[in-house]
Order: sequence, then structure tokens, then C-alpha cells
Amino acid sequence: MKITVVGAGNVGATCADVLAYREIANEVVLVDIKEGVAEGKSLDIWQKAPINLYDTRTIGSTNDYSKTAGSDVVVITSGLPRKPGMTRDDLIETNAGIVRSVTENVIKHSPEAIIIVVSNPLDVMTYQAHLSSKLPRTKVMGMAGILDTARYRAFLAEALNVSPKDIQAVLMGGHGDTMVPLPRYTTVGGIPVTELIEKDKLDAIIERTKTGGGELVKLMGTSAWYAPGSAAAQMAEAIVRDQRRVFPVCVKLEGEYGIDNCYLGVPVILGKNGIEKIIELDLNDEEKALLNTSRDHVKEVMDVLDKLNTSKV
Ligand code: NAI
Ligand code: 2OP
Repeated sequence: MKITVVGAGNVGATCADVLAYREIANEVVLVDIKEGVAEGKSLDIWQKAPINLYDTRTIGSTNDYSKTAGSDVVVITSGLPRKPGMTRDDLIETNAGIVRSVTENVIKHSPEAIIIVVSNPLDVMTYQAHLSSKLPRTKVMGMAGILDTARYRAFLAEALNVSPKDIQAVLMGGHGDTMVPLPRYTTVGGIPVTELIEKDKLDAIIERTKTGGGELVKLMGTSAWYAPGSAAAQMAEAIVRDQRRVFPVCVKLEGEYGIDNCYLGVPVILGKNGIEKIIELDLNDEEKALLNTSRDHVKEVMDVLDKLNTSKV
């Protein structure tokens, strides 16, 4: 199996490292536009192999997509990260141009690849990759839900003083402040979380989750990479190993949840064909209203992208 990661910055390099040391693919190609960066980082990861005992071959490339040919999965992380004071949506114009050209290059050399987008604004960059690749919706998806649920699970594990391994959760909607954590579907070792934590504490954790990306931007001056890189690698693993894992993933909705033509995070089964199935939960009125608010926000940014793309034609 061969996986390409485009963008050898914080998230891309972390993703390539996880893919390599966990031997998720035989070959990992890292691509960046900055001369030498992808080659250097992939060589560094390869030189870690004798220490950490893995044999995934890592190869770097400065913008030469011929090295990516025949990739089974491509993870797109290229693009600007946000700085303090910026929202993810502020990145749209620059990152849309990057995601557009990267996707075109990727598809030229790997027409059968499944694409996982990480660049922000996530839901709308997934839409851009879909437009540029012309692949079916089952093969173009975005990573955000695994990261957002991981943050939620980590905060809960801390509050309850239990292992994060035992917290199962699902979260829906766009990757932004309108995301929709679902306490009704959150369990701790099979026990509904609402039986273990007071409502005000749970509400505070939900609010912290929604702004979890911003919390890290404030601390570090740029956005996070360890959890995002690992989350993208976990999606690639589910695909190349045909694991049929159940994850929240950004996908184009075509009528599911009563929502049409919008990229939103929903629970799916992820396997060798990409999105094997979209799982439709029976949401209550309050949950539906929150999801629709998130949809409205993502649609607004999708409209901005449509206008940008029209002006480029
Ligand atoms: P970074 O700045 O560390 O890395 C981005 C890399 O992309 C740089 O090395 C840059 O040279 C490269 N690049 C730019 N244009 C390129 C092109 N045309 N072709 C190939 N490479 C190109 O940024 P970081 O922290 O890795 O974040 C990457 C993106 O991922 C950002 O848009 C960020 O907002 C997003 N992100 C999304 C998350 C999610 O949950 N979906 C989580 C964390 C970050
Ligand atoms: C994050 O949530 C900024 O999307 C990025 O960390």
C-alpha cells in the first residue's frame, strides 16, 4: 500500500511519521512546495526506522507528483494554518487555490486514490477537493470529527479521572464553533456519560471542545498537529486495512439528515472503498436544530468558495 501526504508542515509530517512507525503503508510519500523540506523530513523519519523498528519506506518530493503515482490514499494538509485572531474561514482564498492545484496534480498520477482533506476551512476544502478531483463522494472526505471527538474524550477522561480509551463519543456538524457534540451518544465503558458527570460540568466540556482548536492556537501561535496528524493517519489506516471503523467524517450529504449538497461531519463506516456507509442517527429536535445551524454556516462558506471559483473560470 502507498500513501501520499501533501504538505510536509506540522500536520503532514506528523501524519507521515505515524503512518510510518505504525507500518500503515509500505511506502509513504511526503510532498511540499518548499524546496528540500519534504525530502529532509522523510529522510529523518526513515532514519528513525532502525531505532523504532519499522520498515515503511518514506520518500520526499518537492512538488514532483510523479513520485506519488499509484497512491491508494492521499492526505492533503497543504495550506496556511490559522494564527491568533483568525478563524478557519479566514483561510479560504489562499487554501482553496492550494487545495485546487494539489488535487489536480494528485489525481493526474493517482486517479484511483481516496482523498482525505485536512486543510482548513475543512468542510469547504473537502468540497474544493471534490470539485477538483471529480471523484464520487465516497472517495473524498475530510478529517475533523476524529480530532474534535478526541478533544472531547480527552477532556472527559480528565474530568472523570478515567482512561481516555474507555470514552466513546460521536460528534457531528462542521469543523468550527458550530460543531455538535452529542452527550446522548457518549459512553464511558458502556455507561451513559450523563450518569457520571453533572450537567454543568458536561456543558463546560462541550463548550471547551467547540473552541478546542482556538485554545491551542492561543497557546502556540499556530494550530495543533500531534492529534490532527494522528487522526488523519487513523482514517488512512481504516481505509488501507479495510477496517470498517465507525468515525465521524466530513462527507457530502445528499439527503441524509434532511440535508442536501453540503459537506458536514457525520458518523460513517470507513473501509477499502472510502465511505462505505453514512450512519443516520435518530436525532431529537434540539440536536437537529444544532446540526441545521452548523449546516447553514458551512453552506455560507461553500457559497463564498463557489463565487471564488466562478471568478477564476
Ligand atoms: P504548516 O504551515 O506547518 O504546513 C503547511 C505546509 O503546506 C507547509 O510546509 C507549506 O510549504 C505546504 N504547502 C503550501 N502550499 C503548498 C502546495 N501548493 N503544495 C504543497 N505544499 C504546500 O501548517 P499545518 O499546521 O501543518 O496545517 C496545515 C493545514 O491543516 C492548515 O490549513 C490548518 O488550518 C489545517 N488543520 C486542520 C485540522 C483539521 O482538524 N482539519 C487540524 C489542524 C490543522
Ligand atoms: C484545529 O482544530 C485549527 O482546525 C484546527 O486544531
